[in-house]
Amino acid sequence: MDNSLHISELQRVVSVDLKGLKGSYKESEYELYIKTAEQSFDTLVNRVGRGGEFLGWLNLPSQISDSQRELLMKIANDWKSDIELVVVVGIGGSYLGSKAALEALSHHFSLHLGKGEWPQIVFAGQNLSGEYLSELTDLIDKRSTAAIVISKSGTTTEPAVAFRLIKRVLGQRYSKEECQRRVVAITDKSKGALKKMADDEGYLTFVIPDDVGGRYSVLTPVGLLPLAVAGMDVNAMIEGATAMQAICSQRSRENPAIVYAALRNLLYSQGKKIEILVNYNPKLQYFSEWWKQLFGESEGKEGRGIFPASVNFTSDLHSMGQYIQEGERTIFETVISVDKPKRDLVIESDQENLDGLNFLSGKTVEECNKMAELGTMIAHMDGGVPNIKIGIPALNEYNIGALFYFFEFACGISAYMLDINPFDQPGVEDYKRNMFALLGKPGFEELAAKLRSEI
Ligand code: PA5
Repeated sequence: MDNSLHISELQRVVSVDLKGLKGSYKESEYELYIKTAEQSFDTLVNRVGRGGEFLGWLNLPSQISDSQRELLMKIANDWKSDIELVVVVGIGGSYLGSKAALEALSHHFSLHLGKGEWPQIVFAGQNLSGEYLSELTDLIDKRSTAAIVISKSGTTTEPAVAFRLIKRVLGQRYSKEECQRRVVAITDKSKGALKKMADDEGYLTFVIPDDVGGRYSVLTPVGLLPLAVAGMDVNAMIEGATAMQAICSQRSRENPAIVYAALRNLLYSQGKKIEILVNYNPKLQYFSEWWKQLFGESEGKEGRGIFPASVNFTSDLHSMGQYIQEGERTIFETVISVDKPKRDLVIESDQENLDGLNFLSGKTVEECNKMAELGTMIAHMDGGVPNIKIGIPALNEYNIGALFYFFEFACGISAYMLDINPFDQPGVEDYKRNMFALLGKPGFEELAAKLRSEI
């Protein structure tokens, strides 16, 4: 078996490396799982599986229109002139994609460096913390502010509460016309309270297509508008995703999405029930959050599914590293490995060598990071934690777009291998019903009485 799988030169954007899986399975098992993954690939691309009406994301990258790109850029350029702060309001799939890309592509300390060429982006509506929202108003008070409010259903409580507050603050500071310039809504074409509010208030609105679910919506205005107003190159991101769409649509055992889906299900069949997504660059922390939501909400159903977790190395080698090395043997790791950093520093020689680090003289910090990555992979592999390595050449818009599409496609295949509908989330409703009942929402009185009798 080839250790590093490439269909073509384009394939190099995302590679799947199997070196860290040595001895984890027999060739015949791999063959079996690749065949099953190919069958699930057919189910996905022929749109004949469960939830097949939510496959609009399959062709999204190649179908984004020029007029939509122009509108995104128009808003970005308009806001660039006088807006200092953009609050993106949303939860789950309505914020994690843009947050992930923004963190991956921004300067680590951009918020501390202060005013740049483009507005700063902060997020709201992803929690119900009174402290968070109160402190957000302190920030809004000091900045020229705009808001992007995102909710496919238009009825989700967390963003609705946050936006009610932000809308009031903006309404106290700006005229109605100015609020119309400063607020964009992204929601369903006709349903939900947000759609009605946007129409009544005259906000510019983008539609989330019916056939694209929240966690598959990063390549719609849901993900692209926040990135455009932050000054990111969304065209490059779309191009990267389009290149990956071309690769993923090939029914080939060199298709990295087929290989990845096959491997994770093979490992799951061996009792590896937890997959940890690993990074060695803190900029990828929120990419892991996006990935966890994608796989957790898509696969965790009907008593099945790999539990998606994440760690940030080397930080977490000093906390979770112990468990991973020697705890229950139910884990495998998927490492996102970035070939080249944007910037690096050489460790200089020191005459006194008081810290004993002169053996590192002349090496860069990233060379040390790479050796930590290699050493950890070998240690974990030897400790019974198989490693899949997903490689990308660098952190940029093109590659992040490709990575988004790759994981979405692999998730679709993988869930079908488990005979799960990847595109619904029935379990998310349970907490909402209880919360509404406990908060006294009309229509939930009976449930409220039952819950109060239980506690
Ligand atoms: O992936 C999903 O469908 C969910 O995580 C939703 O994105 C999340 O619940 C937010 O829903 P909405 O956009 O309707 O407010």
